[in-house]
Amino acid sequence: MRLLALSGSLRARSSNGAVLRSALAFWDGPTTTADIGSLPHFNPDLDGEGATPPAPVATLRTAVAAADALLVVSPEYAHGVPGVLKNALDWLVSSGECVDKPVAVVTASPFPTGGDHANAQLRETLRMMTGEVVAAACREIPAIGPKIDPTTERVKDEATLSDLRAALSHLARAAAATPVTSESP
Ligand SMILES: Cc1cc2nc3c(=O)[nH]c(=O)nc-3n(C[C@H](O)[C@H](O)[C@H](O)COP(=O)(O)O)c2cc1C
Repeated sequence: MRLLALSGSLRARSSNGAVLRSALAFWDGPTTTADIGSLPHFNPDLDGEGATPPAPVATLRTAVAAADALLVVSPEYAHGVPGVLKNALDWLVSSGECVDKPVAVVTASPFPTGGDHANAQLRETLRMMTGEVVAAACREIPAIGPKIDPTTERVKDEATLSDLRAALSHLARAAAATPVTSESP
C-alpha cells in the first residue's frame, strides 16, 4: 500500500518535517512526500470545466490518486492551518482524489496544545472533502522541541515514536479495509 505525506511546513529544519519522516518509517510500503510549496495559489478560474491544471497541481492530483492513504503533518499558525497546506487541499476539493481516502492528521507544536486548532480544522476540511478521516490515527503532539534529535532530524522521544507507530498502524488498517479506487501511475 502506498502512503502519500503532506507537510504544512516549508521550513528546512521543520519539527513537523521530522515528525513526518519518523512516521513514514512505520509504514510498510512505498511512501512519497508531496511538494506542495511549488503549487500556485488556488484560483477556480484555472480549475474549471475544460481547464488544464497547472503542472504542479496535476502532479499532486496524480500522487493523491495513486495513494492508498494520506498522512498530513502540520504546524499551527495563528490558531489555523498554514496557508500552503490549505492551498494544497483547495486544489483537491473539486477533483475528487481525496474521496473515501483514509487520512491521518498529525500536528506538532512547541506549545502544550499540540496544534489542536489546526488539527481540528484540517479534520473538518478533509471530512468536507469526503476523505475518510481516521480518528484513531490522528495525533496532537505537544512540546515537540526536545522530542526531536537535531542531528538526525527525527523524533527521539520513545513515547512519541510509540504513539506514531500506533497511529500509522491504525491508518494502514483503514487503508487495507478501503477498496482500491485508483490505479498507480
Ligand atoms: C506566524 C506563526 C504563527 C504561529 N502560531 C502558532 C499557533 O497558533 N499555535 C502554535 O501551537 N504554534 C504557533 N506557532 C509556532 C509554531 O508551532 C512553531 O514555529 C513550529 O516550530 C512550526 O513548525 P515547524 O517546526 O514544523 O516549522 C507559530 C509560528 C509562526 C511562525
